[in-house]
Amino acid sequence: MSKTVPTAVSEQEVQQQLAYIDRIAAYNRDFEQQNGRKPKAYTQTFGCQQNEADTERIVGMLHEMGYEKTEQTENADVLIYNTCAVREHAESRALGNIGALSHLKKERPEITIGLCGCMVQQEHIPEKIRKSYPQVNLLFGTHMLWKFPELMYRRVVKNEKKVFDISGDAKGAIAEGLPVERNKGARAWLSIMYGCNNFCTYCIVPYVRGRERSRSPEDIENELRELVKQGYKDITLLGQNVNSYGKDLGIEIDFSDLLRRLNDVEGDFQLRFMTSHPKDASRKLFDTMAECDKIAKQLHLPFQSGSDAVLKRMNRGYTAEHYRELIAYARSKMPEITLSSDIIVGFPDESEEDFEKTLELVKEIGFDVLYTFLYSKRSGTPAAEYPDSTTKEQKQKRFERLLKAQDECVLPKQNAYMGKTLRVLVDGNSKDSEYPYTARTEGGLLVCCNGDNIKIGEFATVTIDKTSLRCLFARQ
Ligand code: SAH
Ligand code: SF4
Ligand code: F3S
Repeated sequence: MSKTVPTAVSEQEVQQQLAYIDRIAAYNRDFEQQNGRKPKAYTQTFGCQQNEADTERIVGMLHEMGYEKTEQTENADVLIYNTCAVREHAESRALGNIGALSHLKKERPEITIGLCGCMVQQEHIPEKIRKSYPQVNLLFGTHMLWKFPELMYRRVVKNEKKVFDISGDAKGAIAEGLPVERNKGARAWLSIMYGCNNFCTYCIVPYVRGRERSRSPEDIENELRELVKQGYKDITLLGQNVNSYGKDLGIEIDFSDLLRRLNDVEGDFQLRFMTSHPKDASRKLFDTMAECDKIAKQLHLPFQSGSDAVLKRMNRGYTAEHYRELIAYARSKMPEITLSSDIIVGFPDESEEDFEKTLELVKEIGFDVLYTFLYSKRSGTPAAEYPDSTTKEQKQKRFERLLKAQDECVLPKQNAYMGKTLRVLVDGNSKDSEYPYTARTEGGLLVCCNGDNIKIGEFATVTIDKTSLRCLFARQ
């Protein structure tokens, strides 16, 4: 099926990239003989789960090329920074890290410093890097990720000083069959689609990730089966707007259909997904979630603002009332559902009244988790040109009020878990000696727990015996 998808990278092109990996691996075997050690690679990710998933591909390719992982920049031979552009802060963090590498590059000019991801995909970035960050050798945007082996070959084997490639169709292309090395543990990301068509006026993502492209249901199902076989128990389906899944495939399938299909895969695992857009989230989706036993009863549904005037200027395509109805329907089907949302505070010309409406919605719905962001101007987006008379101080104050309101909602919700018995997925060690393991509820809430039969990577049934604002505590 993947071969009929018009935006797929051909199998032949993928084979070519695999051949480049082999050539680099041969080169690195010589390196090992000459230096008595394997070459080392360091990677760092900024940004969202999509970027983390992309980094897992890069790490997989680096592994096949013969690189050993390192956590230290000082002893790395290759350093790859996978950047984000969603807010200014993300960009300045990445650039700060790259800037700090200039001394390392002076000491060891033979190393490769690479920059990729969403920030790089912006038009003005290559020039800026060329001018101000001469230490960078490798530059490629999100559309060129699948060509990483070829670019690395040119840099490492052919010793080209600068390999900059941010070309690529804005439609992007999907490449199947390239290596991936996932983080160890119980959770895994599974990309089901790439890109975004929504063009919310504040957002850079459609410009740097291109248009929506869905992977074929077969490819997704096969990858899920593989993940389950490998022992992953909590799999998050990723896309900027998963509710649009399938629209570009030219076959009769939507996101709910895909969920049903994946729910039928055998094994002891749970599925979750992000992100849903309120404009496209449907009753069908909530019915499907309620009926499918492997789909976690968790919903991340960003509403961004409670004011219809602001939503309109954001080009979100729904009203606060529509959002309320969606949540009411989801809760009627799944009373225990865990809800989270994203909110932007200080969108251009957001008035006190607009903000109050956001605050009202937060208090009314009672989210389990909120991700709150101060509006950040992104050049090239429509909102960057909007007039804005709200001061920085006003925005900061609103931000703090929102956080306080959220904490006031969360505490009673957390307290209500006292005495409840839940199935959780244990995923690591905590710093609390009384509750030495960390786990997540089906809804994704953090639980520190204790018990003789608790094993990392496995489900456990525990009873909550203490609560706090950010964490639940439980025993077996
Ligand atoms: N596709 C997802 C998330 C995209 S980015 C969605 O539509 O929900 C994640 C979050 O970052 C957004 O939900 C939004 O709240 C925030 N965000 C995006 N652009 C921003 C900007 N320019 N300033 C501040 N926050 C922003
Ligand atoms: Fe950005 Fe809107 Fe697309 Fe989300 S839906 S990625 S906020 S443009
Ligand atoms: Fe950032 Fe790109 Fe994700 S801009 S939020 S890493 S899609």
